[in-house]
Amino acid sequence: MKLYRAKDYYDMSRKAANIISAQVIMKPNCVLGLATGSTPVGIYKQLIEWYNKGVLDFSRVKTANLDEYKGLTKDNDQSYYYFMRENLFRHVNINEANTNIPDGTETDAIKEAARYEEAIKELGGIDLQLLGLGHNGHIGFNEPSDIFPKETHIVDLQESTIEANKRFFASIDQVPRQAYTMGIGTIMSAKKILLVVSGEDKAQILHDVIKGPVSPSVPASILQLHPDVIIVADEEALSEF
Ligand code: F6R
Repeated sequence: MKLYRAKDYYDMSRKAANIISAQVIMKPNCVLGLATGSTPVGIYKQLIEWYNKGVLDFSRVKTANLDEYKGLTKDNDQSYYYFMRENLFRHVNINEANTNIPDGTETDAIKEAARYEEAIKELGGIDLQLLGLGHNGHIGFNEPSDIFPKETHIVDLQESTIEANKRFFASIDQVPRQAYTMGIGTIMSAKKILLVVSGEDKAQILHDVIKGPVSPSVPASILQLHPDVIIVADEEALSEF
């Protein structure tokens, strides 16, 4: 694991955006694995800025998002589809046909999980997977468990995750209880992984992820076994080191 220290959220976003830009420049038809949540928003802003300056071209880039809430339609402003459109896709020259997100409206969970896993294989795998880190160590929606789920699957979200996500909904009752997510195996198959972490509230879990035992009770700890992981974290997130 390579660890890059950033001064603050802005610096973290810039450093991570640099790594993604390098990937797009080196391989213009690369497959980017993307994440939602609050941590990557600054990264996407920076990528949009560089796109507007003519530095980046997304016309041949393909993407696969980590996860999507089950039951939310694309036009629901809390769906991850909507998030990606608003925070990145509609601002750059990416071809929508080249973007992939699990279909939250598919009610046959086994069918959708298999379709999504196959779609990633058809893309030729993920070149660079961007990850945020949950307070309980989750990556994608792979919550603490006694196993590392291999492939894309449906999950019941934990209370702590529902609690953390309620800020995006009018009330906690509206937060979906299930989501589709890439499995830990899907994530670990990415050629390169970029984990971004910001804020003091993530300091303890980041410490456990890097220094603790590899255990499905801290899903992101599996990243210790990946051959090419870059962590970009700000000073607050690194305050336990
Ligand atoms: C998002 C995702 C989640 C988030 C994590 C951190 O697609 O899969 O694992 O990365 O919950 O979220 P933030 O960045 O909001 O703290």
